[in-house]
Amino acid sequence: MSKPFPNNPLLQGNYAPVMAECDAPDLVVAEGELPAGLNGTLYRNGPNPMFPPLGNQHHWFLGEGMVHAIHVEDGKASYRNRWVQTEGYKAQREAGRRLIDTAFGGARAPGAEELSGNVANTNIVWHGGRLMAIDEGNSPVSMDPVTLETLGKWQFGGKYEGPMTAHPKIDPKTGEMLFFGYMAAGPGTPDISYQVVDASGRLTRSEMFQAPYASMVHDFITTDEHVIFPVFPATIDVERIMNGGPVIAWDPSVGTRIGIMARNASVDTIRWFEGDACYVYHPMNAQTVHEGGKTKILADVMKYQRVPLFPNADGSKAELSFLDEPAMLVRWTFDLDGNTNSYKEEQITDLGGEFPRLDERFAGQGYRHGFYAANTRPLSRGKPFDTLVHIDLATGKRRAFDPGAGRYVIEPVFVPRSASAPEGDGWLTTLVYDEARNLSDFVVLDTGDISKGPIARVELPTRVPFGFHGNWRSAA
Ligand SMILES: [Fe+2]
Repeated sequence: MSKPFPNNPLLQGNYAPVMAECDAPDLVVAEGELPAGLNGTLYRNGPNPMFPPLGNQHHWFLGEGMVHAIHVEDGKASYRNRWVQTEGYKAQREAGRRLIDTAFGGARAPGAEELSGNVANTNIVWHGGRLMAIDEGNSPVSMDPVTLETLGKWQFGGKYEGPMTAHPKIDPKTGEMLFFGYMAAGPGTPDISYQVVDASGRLTRSEMFQAPYASMVHDFITTDEHVIFPVFPATIDVERIMNGGPVIAWDPSVGTRIGIMARNASVDTIRWFEGDACYVYHPMNAQTVHEGGKTKILADVMKYQRVPLFPNADGSKAELSFLDEPAMLVRWTFDLDGNTNSYKEEQITDLGGEFPRLDERFAGQGYRHGFYAANTRPLSRGKPFDTLVHIDLATGKRRAFDPGAGRYVIEPVFVPRSASAPEGDGWLTTLVYDEARNLSDFVVLDTGDISKGPIARVELPTRVPFGFHGNWRSAA
């Protein structure tokens, strides 16, 4: 029998893992009706540590991935959840205990030194006929889109064996998937790989370049014409680690560097822009703009003043948690014809948040509608986002959905009303955790006005722990 989980805020409440894998074939639609046009599956991924940590430390990012699927068809919904059965998962399940610690730089049980640390817990992405569970340090793991059976790690037909960001970008016009991998030449290296996969899932391009310094590079941005590699000072310094310092740490002295290249050019052409130290986990979108013969890139990102969840370079504990100082949505403008390597920043709105998303048919292009999770209630420890926001970037107007006291939201996922619907016209799907019932609901909002509340609330048979990312796969 496993021992209890320790009293760590990221292992308690709805951050605690669920221990059951289950199938619920016909869920109760407790409020409203599922719209007739909503047919498909919402996949969610997040950390769900299978055993308590080996030591006293635990990092939210390192629990084993569990995928949750809510399938909607003809007004009915079903639910299924499964752990991602990585090499580490299988070895630990067989051993019946934790072998790989869930702290950065944590210990391994004797004999487990060579086990892959892939937890495949960050995102779940459908592309090229393949459902992939991804963390950012390893190969993606294929899963059956219906049964959620783990099919094994996927290395693009043997063409790319390196790490893959959990935030690949799918070009809505070409169907291509673009992605990068950091520490691509090994732990602690500043090397970043860049890949393109065609719509059928075939890897067509793989190159390597060196970032100005080694760091945690969580996400990137692409436009119709450019690729943007943001490098922020959540540094990974081998010498610091060898001296017993933290693996990933805030070191503002190195500043922010943003690498930009044309999509049709080589990585040798990357131009590095320089800005003040900050951190962005997630961009919302970016676009390339041509004006008066000049080319600019507008990039909208959720910007923190410092990296949350990681210590300072001297090992001192960070004051900032995920929510103490929310990220703000800002627009960066890069003038590709200018002779300076600085860029302009404007704040877009005064309500911060996280998990920015858009109508992904407009990814990399001019767009108007953005969505994100925010906090509008007084902060209290261990309580995450409580409000979903729909912002009209043309007018600055916001609409918000607050599910009510004791209820918390996660990342919103937009689903268009139809393939040809105008931008932003459709539904926002999310999961709402209800503290009083200790259960989660699948909630559908109409983007016509999300403040009106759910047009459908579907009760899940379990709670879904607060996790990271998900995507909608349309049945059509
Ligand atoms: Fe992320």
